[in-house]
Order: sequence, then structure tokens, then C-alpha cells
Amino acid sequence: LQGARILATGSAIPDVCINNEHLSKIVETSNEWIVTRTGIEERRILTGQNESIIDLASLASKRALEKISMNPLEIDLIILATSSPDDLFGSAGQLQAKIGASKAVAFDLTAACSGFVLGIVTATQFIQNKSYKNILVVGADALSKWTDWSDRSTCILFGDAAGAAIIQACSEEENGVLGFQLNTNGNKSNQLSIPYQTHSYHLDNHKSLNLFQGRFQYITMNGQEVYKFAVSKVPTSIAQCLNSLNISKDEINWLLLHQANKRILYAVADRLGIDYSKLIYNLDKYGNTSAASIPLALDEALAKKQIKYNDIIVIAGFGAGLTWGTTVIKW
Ligand code: ACO
Repeated sequence: LQGARILATGSAIPDVCINNEHLSKIVETSNEWIVTRTGIEERRILTGQNESIIDLASLASKRALEKISMNPLEIDLIILATSSPDDLFGSAGQLQAKIGASKAVAFDLTAACSGFVLGIVTATQFIQNKSYKNILVVGADALSKWTDWSDRSTCILFGDAAGAAIIQACSEEENGVLGFQLNTNGNKSNQLSIPYQTHSYHLDNHKSLNLFQGRFQYITMNGQEVYKFAVSKVPTSIAQCLNSLNISKDEINWLLLHQANKRILYAVADRLGIDYSKLIYNLDKYGNTSAASIPLALDEALAKKQIKYNDIIVIAGFGAGLTWGTTVIKW
């Protein structure tokens, strides 16, 4: 077995910023309601006609590559975690082309807000079995394109962004990914969804042959159920993961949770008995950026030099699927 460590990170956000004041002119809401219920103050969204997650994902990836002066041709595999692809056949190929990583295999991974955690864990498996050495894991989402901007219960929550991490093989003794714990509960998939709605389509004029074709709708969410799910399941996953690694909560330096809601982050920290000062937090500036939220927050925390050598970082994602999971990294 081989170790896997994060060598470098990068991130990218759109230029256009919408604050709560602005949103309150679009739907009936207020800065006070949004801040007290969610902690979100502003979010970035893609507004250009041809702008997509690929622009953000490629910028984030290039920034990560630049930090370690890595040639994109050295990348063996690209995992693009996204739920808002440009192309249902997969967007990772576009990212591969745009950053010039022509030797890399590239595929999409769809797991909503857990996508980055699943991406890191997947990359780690390829490294540990010695298939690949350098893997680019990107979390990128533009949920603004799937948001019903007349629905005040969801449009206040989300923002667009991308975050990238380059994972590299290292010796087993070196710091890196220590372990993981992953879960799915498909029975609750309807609690948070971008549903596909179909209508009947006649293949011939005699109407003897029918099939159903459709379109994806807007994001639908049962906010209270998702809230309850997150605050009960995420601490359990983290506790299980720490337990399997024999790490006590006092050894944790940073708790990096998917940035969904301030109350969820605080409740998870409370249930684990972890001080709020250990929470990595940037939700106020970006809202919930889905698969991008964890690598974006990680990149910012590294830029601020919050995270130091030998720090233990507990990373947990949760979201649609429903999916949730934890990975622990020694930096
Ligand atoms: N502005 C003002 N009022 C609002 C707004 C708004 N933007 N949205 C809803 N309300 C109203 C509701 O209509 C309701 O009014 P009523 O009591 O007259 O019916 C009232 O506020 C309370 O609504 P609730 O839904 O009960 O509010 P709650 O306290 O549950 O907060 C929220 C809603 C913020 C969505 C919360 O449930 C939450 O954070 N849930 C988790 C959501 C989440 O994190 N989702 C993403 C995770 S997974 C992923 O990232 C894809």
C-alpha cells in the first residue's frame, strides 16, 4: 500500500456577487432572515451566457498546478465532482482539454455536496493500488443554473464556485489521507433533488409507439428534513471514522464541513464536543457551493496559513442522495 497526500489546492469564484440586500429585491426575504437562519451574507454566481463550471474548474486547477509548478501532462487522472455538468455525457473531458492534461483519464463523479469527499476517497484508492500517481480532484458546481429564482426557500442558499486538489502518491509513513467513512440513504433521495420530469412523446403519427422524454426541473428541497439529517448523521460518521483511526476528538485541529448552513456547522461541532474555533468557515461569503465548498474552504484556509504541518483535519460532506461521509487527513 501507498500513501496519498494533498500536494496543492486552488479555487475560483465568479466575479458577480449578490448580497442578501440584493436578493430581497428578487424574492420576499430579508438580510436578517437569511443571516439568522443560514449565516450566509453573499454568494457568487455565473451570469455570462457561455460561462460554466468548466471555466471555474479549469481556473481552480491551473492555480493548484501553478503552486507546485506541475506540468498538466503529469496528471494521470482527473475526477470532476459536479452535479451541474455542461454535458450529461460528462464534463471532465472538457476540463482535461482546457488545462492541457492530455495524458489524464477524466470522468465525472455525481454526489452533490458529498462529491469532493467521495472524489478524494476515490483518488486515494487509485493511488493506494498503485494505478496512478498524480490525481486532480475538482469539486465544481453552478447551482445558480438549477435554482428557481422565485423560490425564496432555496434561492438564498446556493452559490457557484470550484475548488481543486492535486493528490499525489507518497510513502505510507508520510502525512496524508488517514481514512474514511462513507454512507448513502437512497430512501430519502426525494428530500433534496433536481428531478427529471417526463412527458409522453409519440414516435410515429399513428401513436402506436410512445416513449417518455423529459427535462430536469429546478432544485427541490425539504429544508427541515435535510437539516435534521445533517445534524444527526454527520457527527456519527465523523465519530465512527475517528474511532476506526484511534484518533480522539482532542487531537483534531480543524473541522472542515461542507458549508451548507451556519447552524448545521455549529450543531455538528456541539455534538462532537469540538470548539467552534476549530471550524473552517467561509459560508458567509459564498453560500452553499455544493461540491466546491470543501476545496474552496480548504484553499482559503491554506492561503491564510491556518493549517499547519502535522495538523489533523476532519473533512465531512453531506447532501443529496442522500450521501454523507468523512475523510481524515494529516497535513
Ligand atoms: N425569507 C423569509 N422567509 C422565508 C424564507 C426566506 N428566504 N424561506 C422560507 N421562509 C419562511 C417559510 O415560508 C416559513 O414561513 P411560515 O412559517 O409562514 O410557513 C418560515 O420562513 C420558516 O421556514 P422553515 O423552512 O421552517 O425555516 P427553517 O428554519 O427550517 O430554515 C432552511 C430553512 C434555512 C432552509 C433550513 O431548513 C436549512 O438550512 N436546512 C438545511 C438546508 C441545507 O443545508 N441544504 C443543503 C444541504 S445539501 C446540499 O448542499 C445540496
